[in-house]
Amino acid sequence: MRKRLIVANWKMNMLRREAKELAERIINLLNDLRSSVDVVLAPPYTSLDVVYRVVRESKIQLGAQNVFWEAWGAVTGEISPYMLTDIGCKWAIIGHSERRNILRETDIMVQKKIKTSLDAGLTPVFCVGETIGEREKGKTINVIESQIEIGLKDVKLADSANLVIAYEPVWAIGTGNNATPKEIEHLHGVIREITGGILGQIASDIRVLYGGSVNPENIKEILATPNVDGALVGGASLRADSFGKIVQLAGE
Ligand code: PGA
Repeated sequence: MRKRLIVANWKMNMLRREAKELAERIINLLNDLRSSVDVVLAPPYTSLDVVYRVVRESKIQLGAQNVFWEAWGAVTGEISPYMLTDIGCKWAIIGHSERRNILRETDIMVQKKIKTSLDAGLTPVFCVGETIGEREKGKTINVIESQIEIGLKDVKLADSANLVIAYEPVWAIGTGNNATPKEIEHLHGVIREITGGILGQIASDIRVLYGGSVNPENIKEILATPNVDGALVGGASLRADSFGKIVQLAGE
């Protein structure tokens, strides 16, 4: 049985004080959080420490939105996975479409980030998904297949809990336009199949999340879809009431 997981991606929002207050409000709303859902908050790097201090006694875990692929060295401005575990992170979002598109992150970079994060003890939330142009050209499956094949090439997974995949159609992110349950079911099935081809049997226990305009109104329908094990939530995670509601509905 795959346990549900809800990840809050706060992106480049909030100063430390605001991030701390939001984490506190979320903790208050979820203080009787059911153990049937895992919850991760991924604030910007600058707020990781304040948020960690708020969540460390709770069941809520801390994640980073990115990570570098080397452990140490002369890489000005980057953050190593070991620095992230040192500050209390257990998770790292890797290969988010905003990083692929705005910062030109490639599948090879994503693969290296996944490997170094696993070595450091971070659980990658490995994001894949097609753009609207790719979708219109009928290339969705090819794109996802190549993202997963390159991203997971030679990745050694000791435990299925050590990796999460997030299917995030780029056209659904921040648009209010989520994929339909039928589309999600199809793509999640495809993702599990491709992952199984690379990682073998362990893939059937890896959690696959959906992301892209998830909100309290659509979460139930999305989670009722076969092969959906949770959600990666952007905009709706910036308010305690909407994020709390999503988590609560995921736990029912
Ligand atoms: P959204 O973002 O929920 O605002 O669409 C999701 C994401 O980018 O992870």
